[in-house]
Amino acid sequence: MTTSASKSPTIGVFDSGFGGLTVLRALLPLIPAAHYLYLGDTARLPYGSKSRETIARYAVESARFLADHGADLLVIACNTATALAMPEIRAAVSIPVIGVIEPAVEMAHLGRQHSEVLVLATQATTQSHAYLEACARRNLRAVEKACPLLVPLVEEGWVDHPVTRDVLRIYLSEALQDCAPSAVLLGCTHYPLISGAIEQTLRLLGSQATIIDSAHSTARMTAMHFGQSSVGTVTTVTTTNATFECYATDSVEKFARLGSQFLGQPIPHVHLLDLGG
Ligand code: DGL
Repeated sequence: MTTSASKSPTIGVFDSGFGGLTVLRALLPLIPAAHYLYLGDTARLPYGSKSRETIARYAVESARFLADHGADLLVIACNTATALAMPEIRAAVSIPVIGVIEPAVEMAHLGRQHSEVLVLATQATTQSHAYLEACARRNLRAVEKACPLLVPLVEEGWVDHPVTRDVLRIYLSEALQDCAPSAVLLGCTHYPLISGAIEQTLRLLGSQATIIDSAHSTARMTAMHFGQSSVGTVTTVTTTNATFECYATDSVEKFARLGSQFLGQPIPHVHLLDLGG
């Protein structure tokens, strides 16, 4: 187990599975002095097909675990938990909490050429309309498309697989019947892992939309919280100083194997965690 230096911040990163590792991957070089605790609630995934009450209960348990284990700040690297459980998470812990939706929408807003965006997300996230509302506040028109089969495919490691490409073709051709977006927002932290396939499918269907994922903008917002606004300089730092510990609520072997792929570096040890049913 690694330990944090006395004055370095400890940052808790939470997702229902591997997807949030895309956010951790963006955080490591940006805040290299921090110690990271990553929790993937893999036993209870997917969150995206569950009710608001269940998602809030699961997310609060994970948030409390990270806060109790020394996190100074929490990054909710899960769109579903961000969309449906932020008030409950904030009420349950006494540390700052950053979600992924505002940074993603802000990024789309800053790309000023965008007036219409397509948001791909889980069923629970689309039903909450959290993206629609965040976009409307910035005069962006959003069309939300639920893609419930994508998370299980990514968790299976099928990131470059014919079945995943077929499923994407069906979802995207359905979505493009209702809109002609200039940006496609990846409203689930699992989706950056298949962003290459998403882009290829969009091009096959005749769309030139730009793909936006929230990992980097969420990492930048977190860095700003710690007073690191000079992002241009910190992105050049290597990840070697940052230390991280991973917790998973289901198979630690699978987490280490697939997670290393998604994090872009080995995960030498994963702690098994029992958060109950
Ligand atoms: N990665 C999560 C998100 O960003 C959800 C995956 C799940 O359904 O559990 O929405």
